[in-house]
Amino acid sequence: MTDDRLLTTTRVDEDVQYEAGLRPRSLDEYIGQERIRENLHVSITAARQRGEALDHVLLYGPPGLGKTTLATVIANELGVPIRPTAGPVIEKAGDLAAMLTSLQARDVLFIDEIHRMAPTIEEILYPAMEDYELDIMIGQGPGARSVKVPVQRFTLVGATTRTGLLTSPLRARFGIVHRLDYYTAADIEEIVRRSARIIGVEIEDEAAVEIARRSRGTPRVANRLLRRVRDYAQVRADGRISLEVAQRALKLLEVDEHGFDEVDRRLLRTIIDKFSGGPVGVASLAAAMSEERDALEDIYEPFLIQIGFLDRTPRGRVATPRAYEYFGLPAPGKDRLW
Ligand code: ADE
Repeated sequence: MTDDRLLTTTRVDEDVQYEAGLRPRSLDEYIGQERIRENLHVSITAARQRGEALDHVLLYGPPGLGKTTLATVIANELGVPIRPTAGPVIEKAGDLAAMLTSLQARDVLFIDEIHRMAPTIEEILYPAMEDYELDIMIGQGPGARSVKVPVQRFTLVGATTRTGLLTSPLRARFGIVHRLDYYTAADIEEIVRRSARIIGVEIEDEAAVEIARRSRGTPRVANRLLRRVRDYAQVRADGRISLEVAQRALKLLEVDEHGFDEVDRRLLRTIIDKFSGGPVGVASLAAAMSEERDALEDIYEPFLIQIGFLDRTPRGRVATPRAYEYFGLPAPGKDRLW
């Protein structure tokens, strides 16, 4: 069976240590996402020239596409430190207030999974983002009063898988909003070659193509596969990643030709087997699969739609003929023999 961790787009422990070293540090080093890069270059250059803080930035899109990386790049390009945190980690309003008041002018505060902040904590952010001040309540009952505490002009970079998950007051306070998309095969290939250079392994171009093809348009998956193929090359070959070595390694790792993991396959099989190929609503699909609806919508569907295995219609999700073909099944409505 395929190792699910190998193809998952969500960050696993091992990724943390490697991603730090492989992460591009500047917009110049960053591969892919051309439109976002160019827009950010303009905004950052303008803010720098004026000596101002960059407007707040919201980055959204499926996991593994480089939201954290971009946040780091933005801070580097601004020449300021990045203070990272995450929505679920901030437990008390006081934690966020402490973080905000310790920021220097133009610093970047990065909040990953910003949609997972508690509503009472989120409210602290509104005046901080808009007026650079905090409204702090002192005391309780009739004697309670609110005091305003100034914060420096900072830049909030928020990351989320879908903008739809944010409350509208929060979303409205971001001046710069970008959606990261799956990378093209050519971009992933380049990322694989760059990462191979950094970790010091020789790789044939054709081998980079082979790894890229199975990385579901996601740099995190590509870098993880590269590490596993490098292990194989070291132990079972001469350390170089030739096309043949890559193919043998990926076969041994049972990496799917499209980079599908078990959930991708089960999602398609459920639509085909239990819902006659669809259309089926996402809630029914999630229930039939015992998966969370959000995970299906944020992680699995976008990729399957992008590569043409799934259609999202007004009446629900439909498995495409390519999905049937993948499982060696005849597509309904055509070429049916019975
Ligand atoms: N490593 C991970 N993502 C990358 C990117 N977008 N460009 C270069 N290297 C990367």
